[in-house]
Amino acid sequence: MNLLFIGDIVGSAGRRFVAEALPDLISEYGIHLTVANAENAAGGFGLTPPVADELFSMGLDVLTSGNHIWDKKEIIEYLDRQPCLLRPANYSPGLPGRGVYTGRARNGSAVAVINLQGRTYMPLTDCPFRKADEILASLDPAIRIRIVDFHAEVTSEKMAMGWYLDGRVSAVIGTHTHVPTADARILPGGTAYQTDAGMTGPYDSVIGMDKDIALRRFLTSTPVRLEAARGKVELHGLVVRIDDQTGKAQEVLRVFRERS
Ligand code: FE2
Repeated sequence: MNLLFIGDIVGSAGRRFVAEALPDLISEYGIHLTVANAENAAGGFGLTPPVADELFSMGLDVLTSGNHIWDKKEIIEYLDRQPCLLRPANYSPGLPGRGVYTGRARNGSAVAVINLQGRTYMPLTDCPFRKADEILASLDPAIRIRIVDFHAEVTSEKMAMGWYLDGRVSAVIGTHTHVPTADARILPGGTAYQTDAGMTGPYDSVIGMDKDIALRRFLTSTPVRLEAARGKVELHGLVVRIDDQTGKAQEVLRVFRERS
């Protein structure tokens, strides 16, 4: 089973580029499952039902998210009726939505996608490590392919999660910082790992936001309202080839596309 994971899609520029690049990426790498983090796909903050529907219609199978999923109130009721949109599983019980997707990839393989969120410099949530144990214990053992989006700020927490889940899931892929890291590897137990998948959006920016506005915020320490940047767009993500029988990763490679 060949997975394409696309790093955080930011704003309409990011969405347009995904629509453009996705068919080629799917055919070039023989992709059977597409997953993207979409928590900033609507104008750079949050996600709305029409934007989520637009992303699904492009050919994205599962959307993951993070702390910004709660930004737009329209998404709240949608979370309960769209099983292919995840929010981190370790938020308080009783909140709308779910953090685990189970289904089949295009080649028929049973897959699970799990969304978790870190706790360092992030909103308070339950422990993502213990939540991961709980989810894996409750998962149908016949689902060998398990993909984790770990939405977290610090590299150490993400790397710790990679080691914690090594051999128990097919991939641990970090999101949230919008900065791609060059550490894609397969851990000894067979788990593909990258600290951060990076961003799909405008890179002449401060993590996707207009750089002049972001600079004003840093220079004045006042609550300047950020806006999504424009200009040159890049897509960053990973392709992971996974053994259907064992669920272990066989190959992981970073993918990158750009458009001026
Ligand atoms: Fe985030």
